[in-house]
Amino acid sequence: ESTLGAAAAQSGRYFGTAIASGKLGDSAYTTIANREFNMVTAENEMKIDATEPNRGQFNFSAGDRVYNWAVQNGKRVRGHTLAWHNQQPGWMQQLSGSTLRQAMINHINGVMNHYKGKIYAWDVVNEAYADGNSGGRRDSNLQRTGNDWIEVAFRTARAADPAAKLCYNDYNIDNWSWAKTQGVYNMVRDFKSRGVPIDCVGLQSHFNGNSPYNSNYRTTIQSFAALGVDVQITELDIQGGSATTYANVVNDCLAVPRCTGITVWGVRDTDSWLGSGASALLFDGNGNKKAAYTAVLNAL
Ligand code: XIL
Repeated sequence: ESTLGAAAAQSGRYFGTAIASGKLGDSAYTTIANREFNMVTAENEMKIDATEPNRGQFNFSAGDRVYNWAVQNGKRVRGHTLAWHNQQPGWMQQLSGSTLRQAMINHINGVMNHYKGKIYAWDVVNEAYADGNSGGRRDSNLQRTGNDWIEVAFRTARAADPAAKLCYNDYNIDNWSWAKTQGVYNMVRDFKSRGVPIDCVGLQSHFNGNSPYNSNYRTTIQSFAALGVDVQITELDIQGGSATTYANVVNDCLAVPRCTGITVWGVRDTDSWLGSGASALLFDGNGNKKAAYTAVLNAL
């Protein structure tokens, strides 16, 4: 196959990218994105601050621009993200307790209702676990509403759009030996045992010097999958752009039947949230395929 999306489809998987609405007028960008990828995540446009800038007033204009571009070009869409401590609108940052809990529920319902039946998988909860060795929850305004906030978010999401897969998404849960990974693993195991609706785990997979790719990545993917959830690689980028590491990531996903797809967090190095100097993506700033691109294509 000659594109990432078509190559991934040979094994029933997808290959996606983050899309920024502000770049949809850049034909060099859209040409590559349209040619290579068959899954789209809005890089910022479906986050809480974008979709509910004022309490109870939803705005889907930017989210819809990304959604419509994707669907008009035959791609599916991952929804990102409904409940998160980051990129909250100012009004939500001010809330606490039962008021914040209800605002979270209203937000999930408002956004999922707008996109009902249209989203392949939603990152219902993003980055709720703490870094470091605790293996516990991150302190946040949402966490302070009560430890059950994550399962409430998932139950709300299932009722709002039963057709969407519901994912828990986080970074630094790719290394099996890390406490954060084990914390999330224990939560997913608990949710499955108690019937809390969860369908997938998103491994963001932002690899860099402090959190490098580890050869136990395949064990992590296998272990989550064995709990009865899909695993998706949701925000892949590799600082330095090692072709070998990119190939390892693809090989690890392909080794696990329930690893259903891979999304890279941007198109060209110049589109990366890490800046072009990180050289973290598959195309250079001129849109040329990098060695990492060829390694990924050959591995798929
Ligand atoms: C990043 C975007 O790429 C940036 O444009 C934005 O300024 C900040 O957020 N984890 C996530 C993503 O779940 O939403 C983040 O995206 C990157 C880290």
